[in-house]
Amino acid sequence: MSRIAILSALAQEQHGLLALLLQPQKVQRAGRDFWLGHLHGHSVVLALSRIGKVAAATTATALIEHLAVTRILFTGVAGGLAPDVQVGDVVVASSFVQHDLDASPIFPRFELPLYGRAVLACDEILSALLFQAARDHLAEASAAAPARHRVHRGLIASGDRFVSAQAQSVTLRRALQRAGHKALAVEMEGAAVAQVCLDYGVPFAAVRTISDRADDQAHLDFATFVREVASQYACAIIGRALRSLSNK
Ligand code: ADE
Repeated sequence: MSRIAILSALAQEQHGLLALLLQPQKVQRAGRDFWLGHLHGHSVVLALSRIGKVAAATTATALIEHLAVTRILFTGVAGGLAPDVQVGDVVVASSFVQHDLDASPIFPRFELPLYGRAVLACDEILSALLFQAARDHLAEASAAAPARHRVHRGLIASGDRFVSAQAQSVTLRRALQRAGHKALAVEMEGAAVAQVCLDYGVPFAAVRTISDRADDQAHLDFATFVREVASQYACAIIGRALRSLSNK
């Protein structure tokens, strides 16, 4: 039977989904709590990735090895990196890169040693599904209260750093651009989960709501946004995606 994992980095992003979970059952592995249950007709497991690449990779591995998940979705927040990606926008990943991976001069900067690539593609079908769900959600939300938030789809950069200065953000974006990578947003887990999913052949996709612009204001914007908006977005977008996904 198919079982979908829904990962979030923070408890505030997960609590709305947890409240909707039917027949919840908690199991513990690798020092983590995993919530098994049903959501919109699917067998699911909700989990916190924890923060940073190693923690997220451990969580993804535990989900695959011990809880037999067949697909992984990630929902959370990210900092906007491209100039047109603003707070309140949604970014659906088409692929991920690790912005802090640098084994040069042995391998080109950003390339995953022995993988022969820097960019890890998301599952095309799941990514398209999240994109449509995010667009539908924002269209409905802006009909109720007009807003100009946009849904983007493209590359997300992950690394073990909360980017909280304009200078860092510009440096990061330029370094990626020089290597041919146009990153829309930055966060701290997605590329690690994508790498584990590639290793195991498990389809993976991710949606991130932009909580800040990865600039000097980032830590202030982040806290408010996560508290007030992130959980609702996660519930609404994941809910729509699950409803239009076959549970075979
Ligand atoms: N997640 C949300 N905002 C972020 C930022 N500015 N840097 C890294 N991860 C983030």
